[in-house]
Amino acid sequence: MRQLASRTGSDLSQPAPTPRTCPGTSHTAGRLTSADSGPCPAPGSQQSPDPSLYGEVDADAAEDFLRLYHAECPHAGPLEPRLKQVRSTIDRIGTYLHTDGELEFGARVAWRNSSRCIGRLYWNSLRVLDRRGARTPDEISTHLVTHLREATNSGRIRPTISIFAPAMPHRPYARVWNEQLIRYAGYRSESGAVIGDPRYVEFTRAVQNLGWISKGTPFDILPLVIDVPGEPPHLHELPEDAILEVPLRHPEHDWFAEMDMRWHAVPAISNMRLEIGGINYPFAPFNGWYMGTEIGSRNLADSNRYDLVPEVARRLGLDTSTEISLWRDRALVELNIAVLYSFALAKVKIADHHTESRRFLTHLDKEERAGRVVPAQWSWIVPPLSGSATPVYHRYYDEADQHPNFYLDDHAAELGQSGHSG
Ligand code: ARG
Repeated sequence: MRQLASRTGSDLSQPAPTPRTCPGTSHTAGRLTSADSGPCPAPGSQQSPDPSLYGEVDADAAEDFLRLYHAECPHAGPLEPRLKQVRSTIDRIGTYLHTDGELEFGARVAWRNSSRCIGRLYWNSLRVLDRRGARTPDEISTHLVTHLREATNSGRIRPTISIFAPAMPHRPYARVWNEQLIRYAGYRSESGAVIGDPRYVEFTRAVQNLGWISKGTPFDILPLVIDVPGEPPHLHELPEDAILEVPLRHPEHDWFAEMDMRWHAVPAISNMRLEIGGINYPFAPFNGWYMGTEIGSRNLADSNRYDLVPEVARRLGLDTSTEISLWRDRALVELNIAVLYSFALAKVKIADHHTESRRFLTHLDKEERAGRVVPAQWSWIVPPLSGSATPVYHRYYDEADQHPNFYLDDHAAELGQSGHSG
């Protein structure tokens, strides 16, 4: 039995646990097309990495990063000897090795620079797990399970990143195909109806072609597809005790629990490339904690996801024959209430969008006082519920692409949704 957070710990007087989201909160823009039927992907072995990642490390990018690190972290010691050493290493072998301090700072600043993320106030407390030495599928899966256990922390979610080996010039690299470490499978029946998450119908078919035997429920956790150079993709089923889920109920409507909905506690993005000082880490899964709207307004509500708005409206007895009843809006609010209530009841950290928006403004203030620009994309920062009721709606942002940062490459996005690229 997977860990379903208990429904009974009912101390709701306790404030919702201090929340934060991201890195990488995605809710509005960059909407990917719904996963629907397509050609069955042929089970492949190592997919070819983006050729741009083969490039040798740009010495100027390395220098910019080292200057930033030494300027912000005086304890790092003198800059010049390190610069000299890195430059000569790049001359010799086309890349260089980050120190532990550089790696930790680089990952934290990549989060700080993530312009789509509303939850950056706590960027400096990201936990960094250095997994650069892991090579085999077994080593990798062991580290990923540790990541999930430590990040979940019985519901007191800790923002964590595991950094695996960097891309080396002209060499393939290890990674997982999955978009996130924890995601639900989707199955399209002959009638066209989908059981599970429609976003992953194609991906689910791809892992079934690789030999995955599924249960066929609406909430089957997809296996990880671990892809290391020179080996066929390796399926890894996550152990149940590494996955915490929250059963959903509503504080006033008992029928809500009958819908038998749930969501997983930890969003852990696993297909974005981390770039620090010219070095690319194509496999560096990271997690924050959820903001409620990601689940209540998107994952469970979008018409190309679990599409619950019509059913919730019907059960609420709303007039769905006319738009002027605002039945969609009212159903969305109740869905979001259920998500926040259920996570609080289960003592699993989550953020509401009002609190998180205020935190983001605090972050902007703090960063400006430190003399830094906060790059942000309005369409990603404004929550997908009651946007104008949150303070982040009423202003403009800088949109600079600052390094270090996280990037979603096209081929990784494609692989994460369809199980094949190109
Ligand atoms: N929106 C994505 C999801 O619903 C998760 C993106 C990252 N979110 C976060 N709070 N760190 O699964």
